[in-house]
Amino acid sequence: MSRSIDPWGTVKIKDYDRLIEVFGIQPFRDIKLLLARRGLPISLHMRRGIIFGHRDFDKFLEAVSRGERAAVLTGFMPSGKFHLGHKLTVDQLIYYQRELGVKVFVALADAEAYAVRRIPRKQAIRVAVEEYVASMIALGLDPEKTEFYFQTNRGTPYYRLIQLASGKVTQSEFEAIYGDITPAKVVSALTQAADILHVELDEYGGYRWVVVPIGADQDPHMRLTRDLAERLSQEISLNKPSATYHKLIRGLDGGKMSSSRPDYTIFLTDPLDVARKKLMAALTGGRATAEEQRRLGGVPEACTVYDLYLFGLVQSDEELARIYEECRSGKLLCGKCKRYAWTLLEEFLRRVQERLPEARETAWRIVDAPRF
Ligand code: TRP
Ligand code: SF4
Repeated sequence: MSRSIDPWGTVKIKDYDRLIEVFGIQPFRDIKLLLARRGLPISLHMRRGIIFGHRDFDKFLEAVSRGERAAVLTGFMPSGKFHLGHKLTVDQLIYYQRELGVKVFVALADAEAYAVRRIPRKQAIRVAVEEYVASMIALGLDPEKTEFYFQTNRGTPYYRLIQLASGKVTQSEFEAIYGDITPAKVVSALTQAADILHVELDEYGGYRWVVVPIGADQDPHMRLTRDLAERLSQEISLNKPSATYHKLIRGLDGGKMSSSRPDYTIFLTDPLDVARKKLMAALTGGRATAEEQRRLGGVPEACTVYDLYLFGLVQSDEELARIYEECRSGKLLCGKCKRYAWTLLEEFLRRVQERLPEARETAWRIVDAPRF
């Protein structure tokens, strides 16, 4: 693994342990004990090791248990369509909102989409509202308790942070973090830092403790933002934000799940027959023949259908353990297993798709969309 991660690239992060070693991300296991000691609920993704690392999340939790003003913030680039990979982040936001009573902010990264992906403004705005905000509401994020905002529409104190931050970092620091860097990427990185830091300002509610749930590919932004918080704190009082890092759900061929790979990605808006076909063609950890599988057992770790169960398609840990055992022992064969996965996925998609039309209306009502 190289020493720099490109948050705009397509490199797959395979080795989560190395990430912990090289970049100083803390392993998540101690956090589980802390949650238990404080009597705080633990989420499905925390229990199952999908959230594998953090920075200063213990400090965030201590602040929450002291009853201090705390918020969770994350952002989405409005490019492509909303898929199961995005759902993983939204599930975490729902956990903070319902279980910890923490304020939720969602940045709609239209500035980044325009600068880095060259997505036309009108398209980015429509996709942000109709695909992203609507999907999040349909999945259960409470629209009344969530603050969604567009980067290009956020107001003066937010922009002021970007400008002040620009004087606190050198070209060579940027290059050390990001490698090759263009003006568009510099601005996008500083904008993301403002996303994370601005909710600490009184103008936006003064949420002094912030956690950012992200995939490990976003860690370069987190390192920059935490340094900036420290450097700016001479002038503006800012706490260093915390972060948690999750593993990414794989696509149905074992590669990346991404809008640009629609055959291997389950979108929330997939027609049921299309989703069913994708699932039936998914790469499993099964053997060449049924006879061999009964004898040797399957390999759930290598199976993208098992990934779906693990990331939340199966909610009960007991049931997940049973599927794992039956796969390993050769009792469960892939055909039957896929048919079962489909009954769960079909029910999930039906339920979300029923809610989407109303969620789209709500989304347009609650989000302040930029006019150009
Ligand atoms: N850069 C992120 C992405 O590509 C989106 C993003 C923008 C973000 N602002 C953020 C993520 C703030 C976390 C926090 O998906
Ligand atoms: Fe995957 Fe199920 Fe086959 Fe096991 S039995 S490899 S979990 S599809």
